[in-house]
Amino acid sequence: MAITKDTIGVGFVGAGDISVLHAAAVKKCPGARLAGLWNRNQERATQRAAEFGCKNFKTPEELVADPAVDAVFVLTNLETHLEYTELALKAGKHVLVEKPVGVTVGEIGRMRDAAAAKNLVCMPGHNYIYESGMMRTRELVENGDLGKITSAYVMYNIHHPEEVAKRYPGVVRQILTHHSYILLYLVGRPVELCAMKATLHYQEYTEEDIAMVQMRLANGALAHFCASFAADDHAADPWTVMVKVIGTAGSTRYSYRDHVEIKPGLVHSQTYTAYQGSITNEVRYFLVDCLRMGQKPLSTLDDAITAQQMIEAAEASIRDGKVVKL
Ligand SMILES: NC(=O)c1ccc[n+]([C@@H]2O[C@H](COP(=O)([O-])OP(=O)(O)OC[C@H]3O[C@@H](n4cnc5c(N)ncnc54)[C@H](O)[C@@H]3O)[C@@H](O)[C@H]2O)c1
Repeated sequence: MAITKDTIGVGFVGAGDISVLHAAAVKKCPGARLAGLWNRNQERATQRAAEFGCKNFKTPEELVADPAVDAVFVLTNLETHLEYTELALKAGKHVLVEKPVGVTVGEIGRMRDAAAAKNLVCMPGHNYIYESGMMRTRELVENGDLGKITSAYVMYNIHHPEEVAKRYPGVVRQILTHHSYILLYLVGRPVELCAMKATLHYQEYTEEDIAMVQMRLANGALAHFCASFAADDHAADPWTVMVKVIGTAGSTRYSYRDHVEIKPGLVHSQTYTAYQGSITNEVRYFLVDCLRMGQKPLSTLDDAITAQQMIEAAEASIRDGKVVKL
């Protein structure tokens, strides 16, 4: 069901921090415009609607029913993603849903089935893989140009103040979800993993601010994840966000540190240009490549389900102190 009209209208459900990056992305996307938003808190809704120059819908039902809205971005907290995704799909709207997509594998399965039943696109907000460096790595791996893949690393060390972290689940769900879909996209799924977590800098919040995972992949390679809100990495060539794939015939690197602006970026101490850039690319891929040209998302709800299985396996490994098979 490709969209042929001149301008694709977008509606935001949720106008928190991440909506700022999505609004900038829609603005840059050719043939798209932000029609309006709904946010639970009216003060925030009024402020953001004025900032983005769009309508402030009174209810999410009114937003999804508006013919000017062709696609809905679900940008609320994790626990409400299923509710608003189902609401939009029922109204016949395509959906981009932020990560982590659902609280359980079952929730993501429901979104996938509801989208398939209506022949609509429901794309997970797996923004990192829409970077050209990621796509090039995937192409090299697929073509066999890196030889036999031996190892993959996804590292994340970005300090988050406690008051910001409190709005999110711990880093296992909030950040290792990114790591999981990145690994799936680049080199494929793990067959077993073990994980550990710690809480090192919060005074009151009891969720973890650092977690690490070791994995054996289906292709025989080993992989490692680190996700930390506990501290920035200030050393030379820092592992702020670093992705490495190493093979017997070559290797690749993706780093947030390739482009840094010395000003605070939302909740980060500096602006990593790739953060906005990955969302700009993701939104363009969704609106132009998927909705206009009929392409499949580069990472699907099936991938979101596998990513969620990896997260739940990491949680089981942490709980039981064991290696978990997937
Ligand atoms: N892709 C990325 O890199 C990235 C980065 C940050 C956040 N996110 C995701 O984006 C989503 C929003 O995060 P954020 O940083 O904007 O958080 P935020 O706290 O700034 O905003 C949360 C939003 O959810 C709404 N909300 C909270 N509880 C609600 C409820 N019960 N019913 C309706 N609305 C409710 C709030 O009104 C607000 O609009 C989360 O799923 C988060 O994981 C993704």
